[in-house]
Amino acid sequence: MPQELHTPATLETMRRSCRLAAETLCAVGRILRPGMTTEEIDRFVHEYITSRGAHPSPLGYRGFPRSVCTSVNEVVCHGIPGKRVLREGDIINVDVTTQWPAKHGYHGDTSATFYIGEPSDEARHVTEVARRCLELALQVVRHNVRINEIGAVIEEYAQSEGCSVVREYVGHGVGRLFHMDPQIPHYKQNEVRERLRAGLTFTIEPMINLGGWQTELAPDGWTVLTKDRSLSAQFEHTVLVTRDGCEVLTKRDELLVGSEDRPWSRVWPLSGPTTLGPAVHVYREPTALTGR
Ligand code: MF3
Ligand code: CO
Ligand code: CO
Repeated sequence: MPQELHTPATLETMRRSCRLAAETLCAVGRILRPGMTTEEIDRFVHEYITSRGAHPSPLGYRGFPRSVCTSVNEVVCHGIPGKRVLREGDIINVDVTTQWPAKHGYHGDTSATFYIGEPSDEARHVTEVARRCLELALQVVRHNVRINEIGAVIEEYAQSEGCSVVREYVGHGVGRLFHMDPQIPHYKQNEVRERLRAGLTFTIEPMINLGGWQTELAPDGWTVLTKDRSLSAQFEHTVLVTRDGCEVLTKRDELLVGSEDRPWSRVWPLSGPTTLGPAVHVYREPTALTGR
């Protein structure tokens, strides 16, 4: 399928939805505490999004029962909020998707991994590698770049840090629908020849494992686990492809509490608040980035 591109009018709606998704994620970071259940996160997100005239896209999507995905430790993605209690040392990915305006609007999709209390060295490592993978990938996006460049830069960096990249779940076009063409693999896929076009909005959302890349689906039909039960971390942004780079539509204008505020972490200019201006990235040749 050809890539569906935005008009100025649809892009304006898309920007607002993405801004709301980013604000929701920031608000989640401020409420996370040891002892809280993932169901409490779901209630908070549901209220936050619906009170702003939007619909939480996961709710009812292919039968998904809740308004947000909460994926703890060895859960790769699509964790269903429930009675699980967050404990000191856990890591949790919270994946927020908004449809603004509710029901007929556009979708903005963003996620981050948060630390509950003090993480182990391993939890910290996989989380920071996932964060860095997304940032490196954002830097290669530009009109006419091959989609396979994204996965190449992610997998190269993840492997150099002793981590693996999940293959069964990929980034995706997003906007009029929650999930649209094209698919965006986060690993090397030389057969993918398609090129990004200015005006496309899509997600980059690498899932990075401390052990092997293989996953397993839980009996609930949603929860995705690492096969070896190693830790997994993920960050996600929705981006707009431009002639000379990209615009990160889910860029935050506040610090992500519980994630970017740790001494070992950092606020990357494309993801978080900087004094450098808007979330616009001007493309430079990937050789300068990857050393290839
Ligand atoms: N937000 C996820 C993504 O990044 C998709 C979740 S689908 C759901 O693509 F049904 F689990 F919500
Ligand atoms: Co997504
Ligand atoms: Co998502």
